[in-house]
Amino acid sequence: MPDAESQRPSAEHDQRVIDDWNALARHYDGRHGDTGNDWHRNLVLPTTLNLLGDIQGKRGIDLCCGSGVLARQFIDLGAHVTGVDQSRAFLSLAEQYDGSADIEWLCCSLADIAQHVAPNSFDFVTCTMALMDIPASEDLFAAISHCLRPHGRAVVVTMHPVFKNPSNLQFKVGGELASGEEREGIIISHYLTPMAQEVVGMPGQPQKQLNFHRPISDELNRAFDAGLVVDGFAEVTKSALEETPTQHTNFFIPPTLEDEIPVLLGFRLRLAQTLRQV
Ligand SMILES: C[S@@+](CC[C@H](N)C(=O)[O-])C[C@H]1O[C@@H](n2cnc3c(N)ncnc32)[C@H](O)[C@@H]1O
Repeated sequence: MPDAESQRPSAEHDQRVIDDWNALARHYDGRHGDTGNDWHRNLVLPTTLNLLGDIQGKRGIDLCCGSGVLARQFIDLGAHVTGVDQSRAFLSLAEQYDGSADIEWLCCSLADIAQHVAPNSFDFVTCTMALMDIPASEDLFAAISHCLRPHGRAVVVTMHPVFKNPSNLQFKVGGELASGEEREGIIISHYLTPMAQEVVGMPGQPQKQLNFHRPISDELNRAFDAGLVVDGFAEVTKSALEETPTQHTNFFIPPTLEDEIPVLLGFRLRLAQTLRQV
């Protein structure tokens, strides 16, 4: 098992995450540009939209929006969007892509969202590729609960905590089953214990970043505690990628398993109170 710090949220973790993303924003943007990389275009956005449904004419808020790739695509689909992130470096890049009145960019942490956003004022809420970057995910679920309108939908899409968890040893393994059959696989050596660890999230990035692993039950229980229910779920493989997948140092899925092992997890949330009233 890799070295791990306690996963308890702390002020040092919060500041480290702000510093990490301010330092990494330009590198991230260099890999994603205006419309996102292969993963965003072919995995993250389709999964988000499948779970969200039609957003035309709706009002949405993209939490942890980074450089605003998804927010801009929501605008193109006819939604009205607010993009929120605590990284000033990321938001200034987002503004360079779209400084128009079509998108409102808001610089604040998830924990402070209630001070900036009117309660229950959005038809949809999204948060993509950020859950593993958030020190205290209860802040995310509280923010979703605060922002969502009755009958609104929220979608979270993240790296799969089982199969794309940087604490696991993901390399090609040729194994023999008791039956004598040969199989390829990946090693899952760590899952249930939450941990904060330093990782390289993107090939070539200039410094490591802090990543927060939590099992799926921890994440969903935090969502339930925030008054949310799950009513949609997706596990997404790399099959839809156009480019040959880059075999990342700590992330390798044998090509024979690429249609079988999911890399992304997506889930849709609604306000529990609203469902009880139906
Ligand atoms: C990997 S980037 C994802 C950006 C974008 N959602 C995407 O799909 O490209 C993670 C983002 O989460 C933001 N973030 C992490 N913790 C946050 C918090 N507590 N409050 C606000 N933003 C946070 C970081 O600043 C960073 O921009």
